[in-house]
Amino acid sequence: MSQMRIITIERHILQQQLRHPNATGVFTNMLYDIAMAAKIISRETNRAGLVDILGAADQSNIHGERQQKLDVFADEIIFKMNDHTGRLCAMASEEHDEILAIPPHYDTGKYVLLYDPLDGSSNIDVNVSVGTIFSIHRKVTTGAQGTIEDVIQPGYKLVAAGYIVYGSSTMMVYSTGQGVHGFTLDNSVGEFLLSHEDIRIPDTPKYYSVNHGYEKYWYPGVGEYVKWLQGMDGAAGSKAIGHRYTGSLVADFHRNLLRGGVFLYPADKRDETSYRGKLRLMYEAQALAFIARQAGGYSSDGVGDILDIEPHDLHQRTPLFIGNRDLVQKAEQYIREQDQEWLEKYLPFRERKYQPNKTS
Ligand code: AHG
Ligand code: MN
Ligand code: MN
Repeated sequence: MSQMRIITIERHILQQQLRHPNATGVFTNMLYDIAMAAKIISRETNRAGLVDILGAADQSNIHGERQQKLDVFADEIIFKMNDHTGRLCAMASEEHDEILAIPPHYDTGKYVLLYDPLDGSSNIDVNVSVGTIFSIHRKVTTGAQGTIEDVIQPGYKLVAAGYIVYGSSTMMVYSTGQGVHGFTLDNSVGEFLLSHEDIRIPDTPKYYSVNHGYEKYWYPGVGEYVKWLQGMDGAAGSKAIGHRYTGSLVADFHRNLLRGGVFLYPADKRDETSYRGKLRLMYEAQALAFIARQAGGYSSDGVGDILDIEPHDLHQRTPLFIGNRDLVQKAEQYIREQDQEWLEKYLPFRERKYQPNKTS
């Protein structure tokens, strides 16, 4: 017999959980519910290009309703897969201004789920990979329902995080703090099967990813750093590394995780608020930072570890540098040495404290 082992995501999560003596199974089920939502979103994503054709032929829709936008659909599916399980006390989605309460007729639990239901959504209509990002925090307040304090916790307190990439195949990658594991969806059996065990970011980086279109708005240290990445200063040995950027964070991050490299979405001078960066700390950066660290990598806002940032707003934005540790630390060095102008603007924002009833 061959040595091949077929391990479903459910079995894998269960095996991981057995390593914890006080495990209750709550976690296993929570991750499995996310995997289930991912399968449904994957199905719809694959059909996205057919929506107009099939929709026009579909007589059953007597209201003549158009198909929902995929990001709204993904948002609802994730919420509905998780609202009635008794495992969560609240959720928060990039698509909603406020935290999402568990409906009063359902039990609540001791975790919160944060998610970006569809990342890279501008890529749907052009058939480029999109993704879902999720992270889980433990409840810290005492009531039955979760509050904003349960949701806006720093990344170092995360108990699990992951993402799904809807690409040439659909993959789910997650970590509960015991390494990073990747599963590929086998559509014929409807299961996520273990395909990438214990992912480690390769030591030799292959790619850097940044939107070069905004280069003229970059602060000088970022510009010099990117030149360094291009090998003009001997980065990554004496060889330049390749540049790849899709506009879907999940897809760019996933590629660099498997191949080695760095993704950056720096702060810039585009407008009055872009000194804060674009990506969202709570829905995008924290989860991927957790994964990167578990895979031996590192992430930073250009000042320090993403996981150490004490958030002050649910929709807080952050610059992001993520990937191989040495490459990300090099970005910090360039910024420290050359971007005083930016640091003076940014540090007070970074140090801002969460204040109930105030937004930034
Ligand atoms: P979302 O679709 O969830 O709003 O996120 C889009 C993000 C991210 O996926 C990507 O890296 C970035 O926006 C791309 O932005 P630019 O088009 O400015 O490069
Ligand atoms: Mn996103
Ligand atoms: Mn999104």
